[in-house]
Amino acid sequence: MMSVNFAVIPAAGLGTRFLPATKAMPKEMLTLVDKPLIQYVVEEAYEAGIDTVVLVTHAAKPSLENHFDRQFELETELELKNKLTLLGLARNTLPQGMKLVSVRQGKALGLGHAVACAAPVVQDNSFAVLLPDVICYHRQRNATAQLVADFAHHQVSSIALQAVEPSAVTKYGIAGLNHNSEITQLIEKPNIEQAPSNLAVLGRYLFTPSIFAELAQTQRGVGGEIQLTDAMHALLNKETMRGVVFDGEVHDCGDKLGYLAATLTFAKRHPELGEAFSQLISSMNKY
Ligand code: UTP
Repeated sequence: MMSVNFAVIPAAGLGTRFLPATKAMPKEMLTLVDKPLIQYVVEEAYEAGIDTVVLVTHAAKPSLENHFDRQFELETELELKNKLTLLGLARNTLPQGMKLVSVRQGKALGLGHAVACAAPVVQDNSFAVLLPDVICYHRQRNATAQLVADFAHHQVSSIALQAVEPSAVTKYGIAGLNHNSEITQLIEKPNIEQAPSNLAVLGRYLFTPSIFAELAQTQRGVGGEIQLTDAMHALLNKETMRGVVFDGEVHDCGDKLGYLAATLTFAKRHPELGEAFSQLISSMNKY
């Protein structure tokens, strides 16, 4: 039985949908209340039992690696002042026991290309992929943990799916499933009539290492980019892939409105700020 120890987090993109914020700052460092997006997804992988993160990053984004490294000057200062809670926050950005490896994607040639950049680290292992601008929330079991649990039973690749409004299928990759939850079709941004379901690909995947061979064969597709979806189609012709329907919250934080909605939701739920924030919002509604 193979287990899942690696999570690949592609974070080398240009983040154009969020300009000007992302001109000099990585989109993945945008903050949801008090933590950058990248930390949420690293924690999601950790909670799913994964112990090694492979961060695919770019020369212009050193803050991503720095966030998970030690910062001695800051730590020494906080130690001297005996600010232990703050010290904990500064120190524990990477969950205990988690290893982080980073690889570079010199040029943003697409999501498929970014995932392929992790192959020398992941090698012959099954692995999860988490898009760091998609932030999920579930009270019991996060989306990656659900994929890992599915893998423990079936030992095949899987994609997390989320039910969307039928009229919104045109914006997403949509999957058709058979009664065994195996993927029968995968269509990028279908017409409403074409769509095999309203189950959208949400940004969490689990792949057997066979995906690397498919990515190596994948030509540039839409937008001149090497598309992960194209490699998934090729894999689907050879191996069973499963769809796992996630019933928690999904926020697209790479989109300005999605990010604002996530901020509101996470702030209201925050253990220390939640109550005061909710009061603030209701007092604002008076005007
Ligand atoms: P997105 O398409 O949402 O990110 O890719 P983007 O290209 O940075 O953003 P926009 O569309 O221009 O606003 C999802 C994830 O994949 C990474 C991105 O960093 C993002 O976290 N990615 C995308 C790469 O690592 N390399 C790429 O070539 C493309």
